[in-house]
Amino acid sequence: MTWSANENRYRNASFRRTGNSGLMLPPVSLGLWHNFGGQADYSACRDMVCGAFDLGMTHMDLANNYGPPAGAAEETFGRIMKADLAPWRDELIISTKAGYGMWPGPYGDFGSRKYLLASLDASLRRMGLDYVDIYYHHRPDPQTPLEETMGALAQAVRSGKALYAAVSNYDAPRMLQAAALLRDMKIPFIANQVRYHMFDRWIEDSLVQAADESGVGLVIFSPLAQGILTDRYLDGIPADSRAGTAGTFLQSGDVTDDKLDRVRALRDLAAGRGQTLAQLALAFVLRHRCVATAIIGASRMSQIADCQAVDANMSLDDEELAAILDILG
Ligand SMILES: NC(=O)c1ccc[n+]([C@@H]2O[C@H](COP(=O)([O-])OP(=O)(O)OC[C@H]3O[C@@H](n4cnc5c(N)ncnc54)[C@H](OP(=O)(O)O)[C@@H]3O)[C@@H](O)[C@H]2O)c1
Repeated sequence: MTWSANENRYRNASFRRTGNSGLMLPPVSLGLWHNFGGQADYSACRDMVCGAFDLGMTHMDLANNYGPPAGAAEETFGRIMKADLAPWRDELIISTKAGYGMWPGPYGDFGSRKYLLASLDASLRRMGLDYVDIYYHHRPDPQTPLEETMGALAQAVRSGKALYAAVSNYDAPRMLQAAALLRDMKIPFIANQVRYHMFDRWIEDSLVQAADESGVGLVIFSPLAQGILTDRYLDGIPADSRAGTAGTFLQSGDVTDDKLDRVRALRDLAAGRGQTLAQLALAFVLRHRCVATAIIGASRMSQIADCQAVDANMSLDDEELAAILDILG
């Protein structure tokens, strides 16, 4: 059946500036790390991507290696673009990344110019796109000079195959070095994509301050702790959940009783605000001004709708924040 975007998609949508760039992102974006691979049900993938866009979620986050197999999520997304979303390309922010192992041999991993530029071409082919909006170096490379890696991102932007350069999983000093290099090359460097959620608050040590001071936006991944900060695991581990699925980065052993006790207390606090726990977890990461967007994953459309609805109440007062920190211990 032909799909057409909901005319009211921006009615309840807000947007946030990414660092001090011109790029606005929705508070909640959709990531295709899990549930969009070669074994995924295509119509469910299509419902989620198109359904997210219908809610004003203009940003879809990918990487060369998302699947399984690696590359499959980009292929799934390319199919949805071609069939449904192509007329709305100018309303979409599509990102991809390279930095983890993608193909055999020494040129398909880490941060060389050879890898980053070849991988971007391959990502564009899989997605059937002329350009991506954001191109990320996916993780720091301790061996390759940062000048070379940032030079490759600069080349990607100059060639028109990417509009903005970004990094992921960089600590504060490395992010500031990357920012300085790209600034010297006059390349728009907009974001550092990092993990942050109530159970993993490492960015609060120095990255938040560095982002604020340098004007680099933070893009948050796994804001729901891969599903633990939702009601997903409150009655055990469902067979169709990430922790219940073999070969994912969330093991059943990660869903501990201690965490679940805290999750229940947080859920009650969220209920007091008229929110779901997922929404409270998102408000928690979005409270930082430098956070441009929180990228969620999903296995069904109802989860996306639940998360997007945080837009109605993203503010946390000091008392609520203190109560959350008290529960987290
Ligand atoms: N740059 C990097 O190195 C990096 C690393 C990891 C991720 N990422 C990006 O960040 C994105 C998000 O990561 P993530 O998937 O770990 O994020 P997450 O939002 O913390 O976890 C997503 C999972 O939580 C569950 N969930 C989501 N909304 C829910 C709701 N409202 N109620 C109940 N359960 C809900 C679903 O689990 P079930 O599937 O079990 O239903 C979903 O798959 C990725 O897709 C990727 O784009 C980037």
